[in-house]
Amino acid sequence: MDLKDHIREIPDFPKPGILFYDISTLLAHADAWQVTMGRMAKAARQHQPDVIAGIESRGFLVAAPLALKLGCGFIMVRKQGKLPGKTIRHTYALEYGEDTVEIQDNAIEPGQRVILVDDLLATGGTFAASVELLRKVGADVTSAACIIELEFLKGRDKLDIPVHALVSYDQ
Ligand code: PRP
Ligand code: MG
Repeated sequence: MDLKDHIREIPDFPKPGILFYDISTLLAHADAWQVTMGRMAKAARQHQPDVIAGIESRGFLVAAPLALKLGCGFIMVRKQGKLPGKTIRHTYALEYGEDTVEIQDNAIEPGQRVILVDDLLATGGTFAASVELLRKVGADVTSAACIIELEFLKGRDKLDIPVHALVSYDQ
């Protein structure tokens, strides 16, 4: 199955000139979603993870079912101010301004093998910041996995771990 047949392309969203790859149509199609999660699980299993970390918000849609499929725990990498209790945060630069990602301080034990999951890799800023955050608490981040890679943005170059993407686009 070609998953691209189920990913809707929406021009000029969120800004003029940007082509948005929409996974809503993939999630809504029962067979295509089963195939997607099967392929994610196959790629992930080889890294023998203890924990799957999902990046808010669309990453949760992929990471939680992946964790269930692999029999792993699932943890949330969230935007600032959403998680209760003590948290560990990492602030990183954006094109304009900065952003912060957070996890709960007891979410991961040092040395646990973690796969970081999001729906899409674009510039790589989100993945790179999340890797740094997880390393702050001693996680062994073995790989990153996503459904879509926007190859032309070269986000992969920001990461020093293997990246698994199910489909990639060159524009
Ligand atoms: C999108 C996407 C990734 C990130 C990729 O999230 O879901 O998380 O951008 O971009 P990057 O590789 O350039 O960092 P978005 O911020 O739109 O939020 P959402 O997941 O909450 O919809
Ligand atoms: Mg996102």
